Amino acid sequence: MTHRRLLIAANWKMNPPPAGALGDQSPYREHTDFDVVVFPTFVDLKACVDARLLTGAQYGRPEPAGAYTGDVSMQMLARIGCRYVLCGHSERRAHHHETDGDVAAQVIAALEAKLHPVVCVGETADERAAKKHEKRVSAQLKALPLESDLTIAYEPVWAIGNGDTASAAQAQEMHEFIRTHLPADRAEQTRILYGGSVNDGNAEELLHQHDIDGLLIGGASLKPEEFRKIVEVAERISA
Ligand code: PGA
Repeated sequence: MTHRRLLIAANWKMNPPPAGALGDQSPYREHTDFDVVVFPTFVDLKACVDARLLTGAQYGRPEPAGAYTGDVSMQMLARIGCRYVLCGHSERRAHHHETDGDVAAQVIAALEAKLHPVVCVGETADERAAKKHEKRVSAQLKALPLESDLTIAYEPVWAIGNGDTASAAQAQEMHEFIRTHLPADRAEQTRILYGGSVNDGNAEELLHQHDIDGLLIGGASLKPEEFRKIVEVAERISA
């Protein structure tokens, strides 16, 4: 089990906040012993901030302002009260052709804007089948300013959104590998989250792994009662 402060992150992707998410009994509320962060769409960010949820954006553009139709900058996100931002989610890498260099630029701009970046890395099914998963993840990590205060999310692309989660042992092995890339003075404090088909049935075993410091949850984060159960696991572990 980790000694780092856990982070349970809800990536709502292109969906509205789940029922009750903004209310007093919301399972997405902040806790004293660990962090719960929501990642809504751009249009729901302000409502989440106003409901006093720890809020992050799913993407931010590095340039502060300018002729970038459809984009929102890191600075603008910080200005409306966001505290976190996802960088390089595999769906952004796939659909928006974000490169490792683009992701690094986002991370640098996020840090400058005083947002905490949660940077996603992970290999595809083909890369794993070809035993190139470590090589791919290494390349993604080497592009990043790892000496900075950031969080890494290991999300194997083959495990996202399909119920086909990595085993706790597979995840632990990759998390340990990722930690070896961190500078010596950051290795112990940097949080590494696991993401990919996390649910209320596998969360506990994942969170018991030594190098898993939290979870980035998509599908199950849209079901408030399932998410509440995962938060309760984090609560027990953090007590
Ligand atoms: P999933 O998504 O939990 O639905 O697999 C995770 C993610 O894409 O961040």
